[in-house]
Amino acid sequence: SQIYINGFAGKNDQVTPDWNKLEAQAIQKMDHKAAGYIVGGAGLQETVAANRSGFAQWKIVPRMLRNVEQSDTSINLFGQTFSSPFWLCPIGVLEMVHPEADLAVAKAAAQAGIPYVFSNQASVPMETCAGAMGTAPRFFQLYWSKNRDLVASFVQRAEACGCAGIVLTLDTTLLGWRTMDLDLAYLPFMEGKGIAQYTSDPVFQKMLDAKLQDPNAAGPPRPPLTMQLLKGLISSVQRYPGKGFLQKLRSGRPMGAVQLFVQTYSNPAITWEDLAFLREHTKLPILLKGILHPDDARKALDYGMNGIVVSNHGGRQVDGAISAIEALPGVVEAVNKQVPVILDSGIRGGADVFKALALGASAVGLGRPYVYGLTLGGQQGVYEVLRHLMADFELTMRLAGCRRVEEIERGCLNV
Ligand code: FNR
Repeated sequence: SQIYINGFAGKNDQVTPDWNKLEAQAIQKMDHKAAGYIVGGAGLQETVAANRSGFAQWKIVPRMLRNVEQSDTSINLFGQTFSSPFWLCPIGVLEMVHPEADLAVAKAAAQAGIPYVFSNQASVPMETCAGAMGTAPRFFQLYWSKNRDLVASFVQRAEACGCAGIVLTLDTTLLGWRTMDLDLAYLPFMEGKGIAQYTSDPVFQKMLDAKLQDPNAAGPPRPPLTMQLLKGLISSVQRYPGKGFLQKLRSGRPMGAVQLFVQTYSNPAITWEDLAFLREHTKLPILLKGILHPDDARKALDYGMNGIVVSNHGGRQVDGAISAIEALPGVVEAVNKQVPVILDSGIRGGADVFKALALGASAVGLGRPYVYGLTLGGQQGVYEVLRHLMADFELTMRLAGCRRVEEIERGCLNV
């Protein structure tokens, strides 16, 4: 409510609470290639649109006279209490919109008490982010690499960073047909961006040594050395924790790193059987991100997984795919309360959060909105976006007649 009072008093925040304005302002501030990469989805953008229109199918039916003077938005997840039912989705390559990138997001998340999922494609190594978060909650998102030692190393680092779980993203074994990026012939990784988790990894470094020593090593063609690539490499060098990297830069090592990253970061051959390897390597909860079919959700339980993230990657992978909110009820039914179900893709306001929880989600993930906050105002911008969403959700919850998150259930919606 303080937000409301400040707003009316003219003490407006750095970023606007008006979603459409926030998005427009952020896009305007971004470089056009970054805008295409971040805002864009796959194909004709039909799933991007469905992620929004899907919410409109459901309507909240507020209940009256229920004494909502006191309220509590906290939830329990994996034995921990979180102050609100959100987390920040893993988003790669944030250096495209702000020099502080993931580090600014990590600080804002800690400030707001909202868990942050470190991306495998981050611009800042997880150790640096974790170091700035105190004891605030965090998770690590993993892409299944072609090299299992690298997978094991990431998991080990995540444990050392105090992560509360591993989020294995399954929907991006290949990059989707991203029409805006294709039109601009742009891929940030080719500029050496978004590979900091790899270049800061001891196993990756060893792989790189081996590769550079083997003149016959086969691989995809090296990216052409453009000014952009050089700039990207230099900026990623500045984020490296390792010593002597400038020397290595001169030896052509960063180019090799980009090449090795492209070769190994994702393995489209992954199957259910590979999950055993991950299960053996960590005691942390494992969540599968990108589940949309109830049968896959059931299978995840059979394979001992501890959580499901219903997501279509913000409409960036399979155009024409079912929206996350449409997929949610089927997955929730299949999971039957055995593990938490988190939903992302399309969350923009408090009502969306409320609807997802009413349909059985334990929490929701926030993607592009916090990137827009980062673009416009760094750490403070992210924090304000989070505060706005938390306030919007809390007001929606109370005005709908619910005091606590557990009271939000199917009967709060019309259909
Ligand atoms: C993503 N997403 C993503 N997911 C993931 O598991 N690892 C990653 O590195 C990334 N990177 C990434 C970059 C950008 C620019 C976007 C927009 C998205 C997907 C992300 O975690 C989440 O599923 C969606 O962003 C949720 O949809 P909304 O909230 O953006 O609509």
